[in-house]
Amino acid sequence: MRPLAHSGTRAIPSIRHQITRIRGQFSNSSNSSTISSSMSLTRPLRLLLLGAPGSGKGTQTSRLLAKFPSIHALSSGDILRSQVALGTQLGKEASQYINNGGLVPDTTMVSLITDQLKQSQWLNNHTSWTLDGFPRTAQQAVALDEVLDKSGVGINLVVELDVDQKVILDRIEARWIHAASNRIYNLDYNPPKVPFKDDVTGEPLVKRKDDTAEVFQKRLDTYNDQLRGLKAFYKEKGVLHTVAGNTSDIIYPKLEELILEKFS
Ligand code: AP5
Ligand code: MG
Repeated sequence: MRPLAHSGTRAIPSIRHQITRIRGQFSNSSNSSTISSSMSLTRPLRLLLLGAPGSGKGTQTSRLLAKFPSIHALSSGDILRSQVALGTQLGKEASQYINNGGLVPDTTMVSLITDQLKQSQWLNNHTSWTLDGFPRTAQQAVALDEVLDKSGVGINLVVELDVDQKVILDRIEARWIHAASNRIYNLDYNPPKVPFKDDVTGEPLVKRKDDTAEVFQKRLDTYNDQLRGLKAFYKEKGVLHTVAGNTSDIIYPKLEELILEKFS
């Protein structure tokens, strides 16, 4: 695939602002009432969450950040959507792929995310972070690995969220987001306090453009096409785990237990 023009974070300084906001998106969760006191890790976690669209990667990330305040998080989809909203060149070109359920070219994504990891100064032996939505192809995984190797900080946990794909279309149809913060709501599972309004700002919620049944099916097909290669790469490295369950309430305790077992 051809890389998009103006790829790389040097061309899009607004990304730092986006990262700063990312923790703010997790304050809406009705799940937080079920979360007990915060916990710390004894060694740095460098986590990838793999999962089909709508499997709950963003939702699990929100719970993790609430429980482990030292963890930083980056969502490739959130970064791309913020670029679309800002009308940048990257956003304009990426939206063609996003709105069709395809993948933004590997070269673009690799420079976008690895530049961000460097600029955020996360590539050291004391910072914990989690990525949601990147890498998404074996090629992206190899490229990320090369960058991390140079800093001596490999991925040390990959968790596949294994959710029955028949249940997730319903979730997507009920998903609404607050575009400025990327806070995620679900009309059934974690509804906003005021219908269709963001809990924190009171601003209107919107639907993602790629959350239609037709585009969702394409996103699912794209994910299924890439999954085998991606899993093989991390299985070979001995860091791949799978957590199964059809609700985030079943998956989250398993994810937390896995992290506590290995990193505390
Ligand atoms: P991205 O934003 O990464 O989308 P995705 O992978 O399709 O995943 P989603 O964000 O849709 O779902 P999620 O797993 O985060 O689930 P959530 O927690 O919201 O990517 C979008 C696009 O950008 C891609 O299609 C591609 O074009 C491009 N892109 C991104 N990264 C790329 C890359 N690396 N390379 C190339 N292109 C890239 O949960 C879903 C819903 O379920 C929510 O409403 C939530 O509230 C609800 N929910 C969660 N748990 C439960 C539960 N237990 N019960 C009921 N509802 C629940
Ligand atoms: Mg998401």
